[in-house]
Amino acid sequence: MRDEEAEILLVGGTANRGQVVRVGDTVRRPQRPTSPATHALLRHLADVGFTGAPRFLGIDKLDREVLSYMPGTAVTPPFPEWALTDEALASVAALLRAYHRAVETFDSSPYVWPPSPPDAFSGELISHNDVNLDNVVFRGDHAVALIDFDLASPGSRIWDVAGAARLWAPLRPEHYIDDVRRARVLARFRLFVDGYGLAREDRQRLVEVIRQNHNWSYDLMGSAAANGHAGFSDYYASGALDRAAQTHQWYLDNGHVLRSALV
Ligand SMILES: Nc1ncnc2c1ncn2[C@@H]1O[C@H](COP(=O)(O)OP(=O)(O)O)[C@@H](O)[C@H]1O
Ligand SMILES: [Mg+2]
Repeated sequence: MRDEEAEILLVGGTANRGQVVRVGDTVRRPQRPTSPATHALLRHLADVGFTGAPRFLGIDKLDREVLSYMPGTAVTPPFPEWALTDEALASVAALLRAYHRAVETFDSSPYVWPPSPPDAFSGELISHNDVNLDNVVFRGDHAVALIDFDLASPGSRIWDVAGAARLWAPLRPEHYIDDVRRARVLARFRLFVDGYGLAREDRQRLVEVIRQNHNWSYDLMGSAAANGHAGFSDYYASGALDRAAQTHQWYLDNGHVLRSALV
């Protein structure tokens, strides 16, 4: 095997843990029943000149999808300091906004998509639906690309803002945060929402959307674990359900605090 064909395991995610590899300047990932939709999405993003997502390059001999490798670093534990700054946070908000601008002209109707968010947050545009730290590639201290569009489906801007703010502030009880973000989550929440430029009317309802987004994500991961998915089963075995229940209660108890942070 020549050097450029060597497969280097890429770590960070859970859904395809152990199955995502780098080969030269490409990434190979397993396909899913909804891959044709995702590939059409990536083609659209390339066509409109959006550089913040991998290019879809084809299917390899092992029936894996071939994507362009995005040079840089995805944010994985232990989190580096540069990933936890306000500047890094603002750059994620700007990247998400740029993605939404690029995707709003995409006609998603010919394709079969993964499950959509709840009806009230569905159908506006194809939202990414999984803007977790390990799905954002940074170069220097700036977010330059979203990766892992496996969950992208007809959703909405506010749904992505809710999910991303929840994960990046992050919005959860402080005893679950053991780095410089602790005690700064409200300021970071506001910074993310301002950085994205969320419409005024959407700011009022964002906190409720965050609670629903949290439920939705845990339902998806819970179903995967119940179906025997090894990565998500491990996650649940590590106490994820208890953490999720405490976070859920934290949203209920702190709704007013979170809403005031956006006024
Ligand atoms: N196109 C890409 N460019 C650069 N790095 C990537 C790319 N795709 C994946 N990675 C790296 O591989 C890790 C896992 O890939 P990902 O597609 O997110 O898998 P999963 O579906 O398991 O979450 C990411 O967190 C990132 O570090
Ligand atoms: Mg991922």
